Amino acid sequence: MATTSADPSPSTSNDDLEIRRTVVADGAAMWNLARECGLDLNSSYAYLIFAADFAATCRIALLGGEPVGYVLGYQPPERPDHLFVWQVAVSSRARGRGLARRMLEDLLHAHSEGTTLEATVEESNDASRALFAAVARAHGGTLSWTEGVSAEDFPDDHPSEPRLEITGMDLH
Ligand SMILES: CC(C)(COP(=O)(O)OP(=O)(O)OC[C@H]1O[C@@H](n2cnc3c(N)ncnc32)[C@H](O)[C@@H]1OP(=O)(O)O)[C@@H](O)C(=O)NCCC(=O)NCCS
Repeated sequence: MATTSADPSPSTSNDDLEIRRTVVADGAAMWNLARECGLDLNSSYAYLIFAADFAATCRIALLGGEPVGYVLGYQPPERPDHLFVWQVAVSSRARGRGLARRMLEDLLHAHSEGTTLEATVEESNDASRALFAAVARAHGGTLSWTEGVSAEDFPDDHPSEPRLEITGMDLH
């Protein structure tokens, strides 16, 4: 179900699980989850700003009212029909029950049919690669890889981040 740009009401809600757009107050939980899940940690300020100003492309998942996962995303200004997933995280206590996939699908349902999903994923991140492959497979999309961000471009010893694109998904 598509949500309006200012509506933070749940777009998925059943049993104890709620998935909804973010509001500024979710930024703190997103920062905590990023830290807990071992992701590249941005500043707490960055999560607050994203939760507030990029709410249309971010999601938070709550289980029994507790934040257990989030998606941080944006629409690249040069590619407005693309959705770039910067980070996706699910707390270890809530993994393996389809939460990450449901957050991505919730986000895709709120965007136009034909939206291309983009992300960069390290070669060693099997869980993340399996997640995007599962989303592509479930919706008949085509997943392809390009070089993405190479290790040489990072100022630290960060490994390269190949870029994936999923096109042609049918979300009905
Ligand atoms: C990646 C991550 C978000 C997946 O969350 P999740 O809620 O457990 O994933 P889901 O249950 O939605 O699984 C989606 C698909 O990926 C597969 N998958 C998930 N974790 C997997 C793993 N560790 N190994 C293999 N496959 C895995 C599932 O089997 C499922 O495929 P299916 O639909 O064909 O059965 C979670 O493991 C995580 O937070 N990891 C640490 C942070 C991270 O690396 N984020 C990604 C980079 S930004």
